[in-house]
Amino acid sequence: MMRLSNHCFCLLAAALGLQACSVPEPASPAAVVAAATEPSLRDRYSRSPQDWPAATIDAGVAFVELGPIEKSTQPADPQSTARVDLGKALFFDARISGSGHMACASCHDADLGFADGRTTSFGHGFQPLRRNAPSILNVGSLPTLFWDGRAKTLEDQALMVFENADEMHTSGGAIVETLSQSQGYRERFAAAYGDDAITLPRTLQAIAAFEATVRSDGSSAFDRFVAGDREAMDDDAILGLHLFRTKARCVNCHHGPLLTDHSFHDLGLSYYGRELEDLGRYRVTKDTKDVGRFKTPSLRNVTRTAPYMHNGLFDLAGVVNMYSAGMATLRKKAGQEGDPLFPTKSPLLKRLDLSVDEKRALIAFLHALEERRRRVRPPKLPRSAPHKPAVSMHGRLLLLATTSGV
Ligand code: HEC
Ligand code: HEC
Repeated sequence: MMRLSNHCFCLLAAALGLQACSVPEPASPAAVVAAATEPSLRDRYSRSPQDWPAATIDAGVAFVELGPIEKSTQPADPQSTARVDLGKALFFDARISGSGHMACASCHDADLGFADGRTTSFGHGFQPLRRNAPSILNVGSLPTLFWDGRAKTLEDQALMVFENADEMHTSGGAIVETLSQSQGYRERFAAAYGDDAITLPRTLQAIAAFEATVRSDGSSAFDRFVAGDREAMDDDAILGLHLFRTKARCVNCHHGPLLTDHSFHDLGLSYYGRELEDLGRYRVTKDTKDVGRFKTPSLRNVTRTAPYMHNGLFDLAGVVNMYSAGMATLRKKAGQEGDPLFPTKSPLLKRLDLSVDEKRALIAFLHALEERRRRVRPPKLPRSAPHKPAVSMHGRLLLLATTSGV
C-alpha cells in the first residue's frame, strides 16, 4: 500500500477542502530566537512569588504561596526578656522531671535541629516512646501541636509532657514544689512576673515564651533567594522548587511560609491492624474520617531532623521514594470489608514516577530550606535548695541535685 507522507496528505486534504491539516510549519528565525531566549527556570523563579509559574493544586486545596517568614514583632522589654530566660532555664532543667534526669532539651536538642535524631525518643526509664520527636522550630506559629494535634497551646502541650507517665513523669504540683525551694528560681520568677510567686501557669507560660523565640531566621538559601539573591540556590534546588510546586504536587499540603497547611492527612503510614498501629488524629477527634491522619509537618530546616514521619522510620531518600510511588495503599484483608476504622489514604497523593534526577532535585530544594546552625549554650541553671531529700507528690524520693555549678 502506498504510504502518504504528511506533506502529500496535506495537499490531498487541501484539495478535498479539509481544514484539519496541522503539519508544523518550519520554525521561523524569530521563533528560534524566542525559544533560545525563553526565560530559564532561574529567571522565572527570580521574579516575586506571585509571578512564579502556576502551582499544580487540586480542587478544594486552600493554597498559600511559599515565601519568607514574617519577622518577629515581639517587643523586647526587660520583663519579657526575663520571661524568655526563665523559660530557657526550665527547658534545660532536668531537675523538674520525675526522674530528675530528663529535660525538654533531652529530646529537643538544639544541636539536632531541636529534635533528638532518634527513630522514636527514649521516655521515662529509657522506655521507647511511640512517636518521633518533632523539632520545636516555629512551634509558636502552629495552631495545633503534636502529630495528632491534641494540644492547642504551648502551655497545654508542656503540661501534657510533664504529666505523661511515659515522658517527664511528674505533676504540676511537684514542679512548683521543686522550683519553690530554689532561691535562684524565685528571683527569676520575680524578674519575669514582678513578684516571686512560683505557679504552674507562670512556669508553663515562661516555657512557651522561650519556645516562641525559636523561629526561622531567614538564613536559608531559599529565604535569601526569595529576598532577591539570584545565586543563593543552585540549579538543582531551583528545579526542585519547581517540581515541589508542580509535578511532585507537594504544595497541595506543604505550602505557605512554613510549608504546611496546618492540617491532617493519611499518607498510608498508620500500620493499621499491625503492631505499630497508630490511628493519629482519630485518637483525638474519634471521627472515622480522621483515621490514620497526621499533622503536615513544617519542612523548614527539615534536613537536620532525620529520621522522618510520625514513626521515624524513613530517611529523606526513603520519603521521596515513597511519594514518587504514591505511598503504599493498604488492601483490605478478609473481615475488614465493612470496617469503619479502615484508613483511607489521601486522594491528594498520586503516583508521580519521578526520575532519579527529579528526586535529587527535590532533595536539593529541601536542603535549601536548611538554616544557619544555632549553637544554644545550655544556660546556667539557678541553684537548688541546700541538699535535702524532698518527698514528691507521688511519695517518691526526689533527690535535689546539688552538684556544683547548678
Ligand atoms: C522523652 C522525649 C521528650 C521530652 C522529654 C519532651 N518532648 Fe516534646 N515531643 C516529644 C515527642 C515524641 C513529641 C511528639 C509526640 C506526639 O506527637 O504524640 C513531642 C512533641 C512536642 C511538641 C509539638 C511539636 C509539633 O510540631 O507539634 C512541642 C512544642 C514539644 N514537644 C515541646 C516540649 C517541651 C516544652 C518539653 C518539656 C516540657 C518537651 N517537649 C519534652 C518528645 C519529648
Ligand atoms: C496529602 C498531603 C501531602 C502531600 C501531597 C505531601 N506531603 Fe509530605 N507530609 C504530609 C504529612 C501528613 C506528613 C506526616 C505524615 C506522617 O508522619 O504520618 C508529611 C511528612 C513529610 C516529610 C517528613 C517531615 C518530618 O519532619 O518528619 C517530608 C520530608 C515531606 N513530607 C516532604 C514532602 C514532599 C517532598 C512532598 C512532595 C513529593 C510531599 N511531602 C507531599 C503531607 C503531605
